[in-house]
Amino acid sequence: MTETVLITGATSGIGAEFARQFAARGCDLVLVARSPGPLGDAASTYRAQGVGVETIAADLLDDDGLARVLDRLRTAESTLAPVTVLVNNAGYGLVGPFADNALEDEIRHLRIHVEVPLALAHAALQSMRPRRAGTIITVASVAGFTPRGTYGAVKAAMISFSRWANVVYGREGIRVTAVCPGFVRTEFHQRMGMEASSIPAAMWLDVGLVVRDALRDTAAGKAVSVPSVRYKALVALTRVTPSSLVARLAGLGR
Ligand SMILES: NC(=O)c1ccc[n+]([C@@H]2O[C@H](COP(=O)([O-])OP(=O)(O)OC[C@H]3O[C@@H](n4cnc5c(N)ncnc54)[C@H](OP(=O)(O)O)[C@@H]3O)[C@@H](O)[C@H]2O)c1
Repeated sequence: MTETVLITGATSGIGAEFARQFAARGCDLVLVARSPGPLGDAASTYRAQGVGVETIAADLLDDDGLARVLDRLRTAESTLAPVTVLVNNAGYGLVGPFADNALEDEIRHLRIHVEVPLALAHAALQSMRPRRAGTIITVASVAGFTPRGTYGAVKAAMISFSRWANVVYGREGIRVTAVCPGFVRTEFHQRMGMEASSIPAAMWLDVGLVVRDALRDTAAGKAVSVPSVRYKALVALTRVTPSSLVARLAGLGR
């Protein structure tokens, strides 16, 4: 059966790379993002390759936008092909520290990184569980292993959820994986107004490698995917280093 993969934030960066790699595997795509232009461009590219593509132009922080994506995830087989793989990826960072940001901005940040992926996973599970098959990938971050402001906190929430859900829904044939990249060159840092030039060259990861590792780890049933040996080593170090030191070292970037 052809997989149907719904990807949020599919027009740029890590989400766009998931779309590329799933398309190369012969999967059909449901692409979600706010801006219709880049969505249309991506759809044309994949259709020209013979890939079945739907697009949903939706702001996931808007009730109506979220509802349209939830409806697609709940779709029964009789209407459109059911979504067999959900990639929770859409997200952004806030540049200031918690108390300096407007509370509403912090709440929206929490929503895009936790409430939205949980709502989408909940909807996806309603159609995946009866079929006893499916995959839910959430793009978290290596920041989820460190004391790193509210960005680290929201990513930690999704790592913890994925660890639990991987065990519980794994028994029902559903794979759940949190992908935890380090720095990846995308529009992320520029969108949040962060100066990325101070990040050492060796800390940047190739987006193709991030997604290849993620798909390999998901296929192997892993709950957590940390791309690259150097970031695996860093995550191991965070477990034995005092939080105060890790928080100081983690002062840059996302
Ligand atoms: N880049 C890194 O270094 C890095 C490292 C670790 C984890 N991550 C995580 O990776 C994920 C993807 O980030 P990226 O680096 O690929 O960022 P990116 O290049 O800025 O892409 C973000 C994508 O999300 C979409 N998006 C943003 N807000 C949205 C909303 N409210 N509703 C619907 N779609 C929305 C954007 O399209 P529109 O603007 O058209 O909506 C775009 O397609 C994020 O969850 C991020 O936290 C990134």
